[in-house]
Amino acid sequence: LTCALATGVFVSSAGMVVAACDPGEIVIKFSHIVNTDKHPKGIAANLLMDRVNTEMDGKACMEIYPNATLYNDDQVLEAMLQGDVQLAAPSLSKFETFTKQFRIFDLPFMFKNIAAVDEFQSSETGQAMKEGMVRRGLLGLEFWHNGLKQITADRPVLWPSDLEGLKMRVQPAEVIIEQMKALKANPQPMAFPEVYGALQTGVVDGQQNTYSNIYGQKFFEVQDGVTETNHLLLDYMVVTSVDWWDSLPDDVRTQFATILHEVTQARNGESERVNMEAKQGILDAGGVVRELTDEQRGAWVEAMKPVWSLFEDEVGAENIAAAQEINA
Ligand code: LMR
Repeated sequence: LTCALATGVFVSSAGMVVAACDPGEIVIKFSHIVNTDKHPKGIAANLLMDRVNTEMDGKACMEIYPNATLYNDDQVLEAMLQGDVQLAAPSLSKFETFTKQFRIFDLPFMFKNIAAVDEFQSSETGQAMKEGMVRRGLLGLEFWHNGLKQITADRPVLWPSDLEGLKMRVQPAEVIIEQMKALKANPQPMAFPEVYGALQTGVVDGQQNTYSNIYGQKFFEVQDGVTETNHLLLDYMVVTSVDWWDSLPDDVRTQFATILHEVTQARNGESERVNMEAKQGILDAGGVVRELTDEQRGAWVEAMKPVWSLFEDEVGAENIAAAQEINA
């Protein structure tokens, strides 16, 4: 079952947005795991597709596979190296098997807000990170923002001790697992598409995510409430394979990179708004959001701070210092 969106673009019943590519066009398959209209990444991906399919018509054509309809984030990078998909934007913690450098982005309270993240990523150190996996066949093209993560659970959470012993779903990443252990919770690494069911059936008691994911995946419906901790970052890297990128004709590569950069600039500036709309959406739907007092917030910072020293050698003390200077 498909319905026409615009000439040559169809959305299937599974939510897969497929452009009807013409013979001779370079096909760019973009696989991601979120929705297409309530999520900073999903919205940016659709804008990118629209622009590529209009402005590069006859040369290139983009197809988007959202909602993990093609791959989830733990599979997509391998699929990319096989040439089965050309573009993805996994969260920075999904690059673990390729580089340990990105672990800085997963350290709790490392960046005070998205503006600080932006400044760090735009610095020489941040820009160099995009090429940190070239040896392994992957090239980072742009950083895309989501936002800061909040905690949800099946009971009220205000203090770190409220998480003690709780089974908390985490993204499968070492830093995030250690962060949950620091809170004396029981970390349960799990792929994103499985989280709603796990919360609903009580396989896990809670999780942590941005407002756009808590709203877009309806996690709030099967949780007691959301605690606004802003403790971790969820950001993405738009990534491609070195082989595919190098195979592109120069004019195609340049035009595509320009469009991608413009979409990045336009949408990164909107990610906070998308998350605030999601927060409002949760409240409007009857969901509960708990904000922290300064004292409570201080307790969360204190509880998670020891995680930094575990990873300092890998991410570089000088990089941590640079990030902290931006926060000051
Ligand atoms: C998650 O697994 O919670 C996130 O990676 C989902 C996302 O926004 O990509």
